[in-house]
Amino acid sequence: MTKIAFLGTGNMGAPMSRCLLQGGHQVTVWNRSADKAKALETVGAKVAGTIAEAVAGADAIFTMLMDDEACRAVWAGPGGVLESSPRPGALAIESSTVSNAWVHELAGLAAAKGLRFVDCCVAGRPDAAEAGALHIFAGGAPADVEEIREIVKPYTKSFSNFGGVGRGNAFKLIYNVMGAIQVAALGEAMQACEAAGIDLMAAANAFSIGNTNSGHVIRHSKYMATGKHESPVGFSPKGRIKDTLYGVAFIEKVGGQSRLGRTTVDVFGQAVEVGMGDLNDSELIDALRKVHAKT
Ligand SMILES: NC(=O)c1ccc[n+]([C@@H]2O[C@H](COP(=O)([O-])OP(=O)(O)OC[C@H]3O[C@@H](n4cnc5c(N)ncnc54)[C@H](OP(=O)(O)O)[C@@H]3O)[C@@H](O)[C@H]2O)c1
Repeated sequence: MTKIAFLGTGNMGAPMSRCLLQGGHQVTVWNRSADKAKALETVGAKVAGTIAEAVAGADAIFTMLMDDEACRAVWAGPGGVLESSPRPGALAIESSTVSNAWVHELAGLAAAKGLRFVDCCVAGRPDAAEAGALHIFAGGAPADVEEIREIVKPYTKSFSNFGGVGRGNAFKLIYNVMGAIQVAALGEAMQACEAAGIDLMAAANAFSIGNTNSGHVIRHSKYMATGKHESPVGFSPKGRIKDTLYGVAFIEKVGGQSRLGRTTVDVFGQAVEVGMGDLNDSELIDALRKVHAKT
């Protein structure tokens, strides 16, 4: 049993903390909007009113927040983790999809406070988190990563250790660029099918059994064909743009290229332009319908 502080109980953080509780850990949750943390009281979470209250005496401090800005505020901002006297030797675990530059900066800040930093990114939608079936991409000192592997077992389907600090995040960014490209390509393909008079359910089935298939294609093609999308929103065009921009910046910094990633940002940008940036990424097809109805 590990004493955990879990900061950020949104679509992913809430089911992840529920799994940790069900796995026998002692979990204290905190969220900027207090109602989302409060909802976890019924499943046994202790709810903290402040970050300092959440991290007091914790063995492991997790964040599952939107982006660099949110993570900087919660770790390094006024009243954040680093000025809340976290226990020296505790694990500091960044699970949010954030930039690689921020992960390295945070690792340094955490080490200066005597914390052991691990990036422990997750892949899978909120329903996979609910089912305890996430894919984990970790980076950190070998002993720390092994410790995390045990702690996160309640929500793990697969666990990949990519090596030192920042390497789990590095892989996650590249993985998400590829995933975003797939969803954008599918949105365009489904809208093209519709424009060509092809039945969308037949197209979804064929894309899902042919060589075009992938997890994204199989699930998102059904959403696009039926018009029934995840509720609440699973992941949005704005989220896709955020991840892809972090990913492209990282890829280009290390000497790779991601022309498709850059184009994917533009494709999801069309959803933002027509006011659909906070809906599901699978609703890209509706955004493209709107864009092409105008032209
Ligand atoms: N959804 C997915 O399929 C998925 C899968 C894998 C990884 N991820 C990644 O997981 C992370 C969380 O995603 P999610 O889907 O759980 O998003 P979400 O439901 O929108 O939750 C975002 C969380 O960030 C908090 N937050 C945002 N800005 C903040 C700020 N300035 N200060 C403090 N807290 C702030 C929100 O607090 P409030 O509740 O107060 O707004 C909320 O707890 C993201 O990095 C995302 O890319 C998502």
